Amino acid sequence: MEKFVIHGGNKLNGEINISGAKNAALAIIPAALFAREECRVENVPDISDVSTMIKILKYLGAEVTMPEKGVLLINSKNIEPRPIPDEMTRKLRASYYLLGVLLSEFKSACVALPGGCYFGLRPIDQHIKGFEALGATVNTEKAVVCAQAQELYGSSIYLDVVSVGATMNVMLAAVKAKGLTVIENAAREPHIVDLANFLNSMGADVRGAGTEVIKIRGVENMHGCTYSIIPDQIEAGTYMVAAAATGGDVTINNVIPKHLESITNKIEDCGVTVIEGDESVRIISEGRRCKACRVKTSPHPGFPTDMQPQFATLLCTCNGTSTVVEDVWDNRFKYIDQLRRMGANIIVNGDTALITGVETLNGAPVEADDLRAGAAMVIAGLMADGETTVGNIKLIDRGYENLIEKLTGVGADIARVKFEEE
Ligand code: UD1
Repeated sequence: MEKFVIHGGNKLNGEINISGAKNAALAIIPAALFAREECRVENVPDISDVSTMIKILKYLGAEVTMPEKGVLLINSKNIEPRPIPDEMTRKLRASYYLLGVLLSEFKSACVALPGGCYFGLRPIDQHIKGFEALGATVNTEKAVVCAQAQELYGSSIYLDVVSVGATMNVMLAAVKAKGLTVIENAAREPHIVDLANFLNSMGADVRGAGTEVIKIRGVENMHGCTYSIIPDQIEAGTYMVAAAATGGDVTINNVIPKHLESITNKIEDCGVTVIEGDESVRIISEGRRCKACRVKTSPHPGFPTDMQPQFATLLCTCNGTSTVVEDVWDNRFKYIDQLRRMGANIIVNGDTALITGVETLNGAPVEADDLRAGAAMVIAGLMADGETTVGNIKLIDRGYENLIEKLTGVGADIARVKFEEE
């Protein structure tokens, strides 16, 4: 087993390069199956969720190679519609994209209900509503979802909730459907635009991604392409918060500042300076204690729920009382118990956390409850006096490439340490 050992108190200083976006990669990699010839995908993050998705593609018969760091060559010429073992798909949430891709490609797909982080109930009724509107029959038995159709026909689908996964999955199922599909009340996250751009590079006809209405005109065939994935908004935001929380001065490179605006605005609300470059953001906190602020999560362009635990951690030592409202997931405050063990003063009432800033956090043994909560524990350890150990770090490895190297490169005292399980 492995854990992170952190000695807190160092101000982070220097530069960090951001990797490709996890949540774009996890849709783009299975979407490459549409080409039935080689696709070259660049800026692919080296994280364990991507490795799991690659294993699934290989299981289906795709040839996947990595000729250089961050580059995947995916050739789906010989893929077959084989049933995918449940233990493979249950490892990651994004395996639900295989339903959309395989339903479109083979008119039949079965995927064991996906795993991923637990933030309360994670229904996929809107994905199913979309597939059914396109003409598929969908059954769920023993937690395995099966979708099949004689033929898929374009249709008009209004999503009852703004869902990233349902928007992308319906887009995937519709790219080869006959006629026009219109998704209304679509999610607008940057990775939705990235998936649409990738599909269009393969010959699809997807318009309006990034707005609430996406129109997909089905095409008969798609082809290989070369495509570079956008930088990871949440990885960048995590390091922005780490810099602010340690009183540091860090330039975060290889980002699209526009994608970070909601995070930038909140960091500025805390009294920290953010300077935007063309492809970078610099966080200058000059060692000052941050100011309390109010934050509420919502779909893009709102403040991302996947930044909520990291940002709440920053607020633990701000002057005054901050309010954090979680408006996307119904159970995303579990990690707060771990912050309390480090001395944080937080009261949770339903979807709202009231955080009264303390002078400093104290190092303690804590656990990663999920991917972003784990990143929050790392930030807490960097802020705290003394030693913090973070356990269950395989959850953090799901989404952060070279976290140790990136943080030690800006002066953090953090190491990955092996230990025997008791
Ligand atoms: C994706 C991200 C996840 C992030 C979330 C919101 C991946 C692999 N995961 O998850 O990290 O926290 O977006 O930005 O990309 N909902 C329904 N019915 C559905 C689908 C969703 O009611 O069929 C609800 C959910 O319960 C939740 C809200 O819609 O309250 C948003 O969920 P959604 O955007 O679908 O999240 P995911 O795509 O699963």
